[in-house]
Amino acid sequence: MTATDPIISHIQLKPLLKARRAGETDVVSSVDLNLTQVPVTLTPEGIRYAEGLLSWKDANDVADSDNACYVLERGAASDALTPVKVFVFSEETRRHCSLYPTPAAPALLVAGLPMHRIKGVNPMQDTELKIKAAQPTGIVLDTSMGLGYTAIGAARTAEHVITIELDPGVEEVATYNPYSRELFTHPRIERRIGDSAEVITEFPDDSFTRIIHDPPTIVLAGDLYSGVYYRELFRILRRGGRLFHYIGDLNSTSGARTVRGVIDRLTAAGFKNVTRRPEAFAVIAFK
Ligand SMILES: C[S@@+](CC[C@H](N)C(=O)[O-])C[C@H]1O[C@@H](n2cnc3c(N)ncnc32)[C@H](O)[C@@H]1O
Repeated sequence: MTATDPIISHIQLKPLLKARRAGETDVVSSVDLNLTQVPVTLTPEGIRYAEGLLSWKDANDVADSDNACYVLERGAASDALTPVKVFVFSEETRRHCSLYPTPAAPALLVAGLPMHRIKGVNPMQDTELKIKAAQPTGIVLDTSMGLGYTAIGAARTAEHVITIELDPGVEEVATYNPYSRELFTHPRIERRIGDSAEVITEFPDDSFTRIIHDPPTIVLAGDLYSGVYYRELFRILRRGGRLFHYIGDLNSTSGARTVRGVIDRLTAAGFKNVTRRPEAFAVIAFK
């Protein structure tokens, strides 16, 4: 499996199975999770892509799999394509990491839990809401890289973005995701693998103009919601700087409980004007 192999999911295959039933042969589809469209031919044996042939049996298996994306691997001896699930077991965190398909960009699943919004808004709309609230400019810290959507969004307007990811398995999964490509190529994005709680202690005071803090739920990553962590964020943020802190639906029972504690601890850490941004499932705060 390589980062440049074609990648598909049930979202691309269900319409192809329907087109086959309708007797169509020349259709368009996508081998980069709907980023771009390519011509494909439906033959009696299977789906013929420019890269090779996917049998109808394998195509049906992928179409039946609602919560995974598949890289199409080409064998050395034939042009048959084999679908391989994007699914990495991380030795570091003892968690599984995978891609959850949507009609737009995929979401990241860690231990089966979605790391992006998938209900009501898709992961890209979710990212745009975060970026709008964060207003990235200058030097940006992105504490929780994931698939890099916030880092890539921030790099559109920032001078430099440092993004930190705990889990090498997540970084590997991102390499297969066409929507994460700029994470590995953008000249203004710098990736670090490590625990944010440790990495940020190494930054000098007043290092960042903006901080985007998009951690997993408090149940998975309690230390990223602690007073100690917030004091470090305050120390490394410049005066006048803005913190964006994703929390989850502020109107849900757990979100409402979490946000009250977050606001108290951010305020105790020195942040001013801590403000709820329910549309972005977040709060913003200033130094
Ligand atoms: C909600 S996702 C971030 C999504 C990301 N902002 C994006 O746009 O794709 C949270 C990420 O934080 C990572 N993470 C968890 N604990 C961490 C820690 N202590 N330090 C850095 N990253 C951490 C998880 O592995 C996961 O990839």
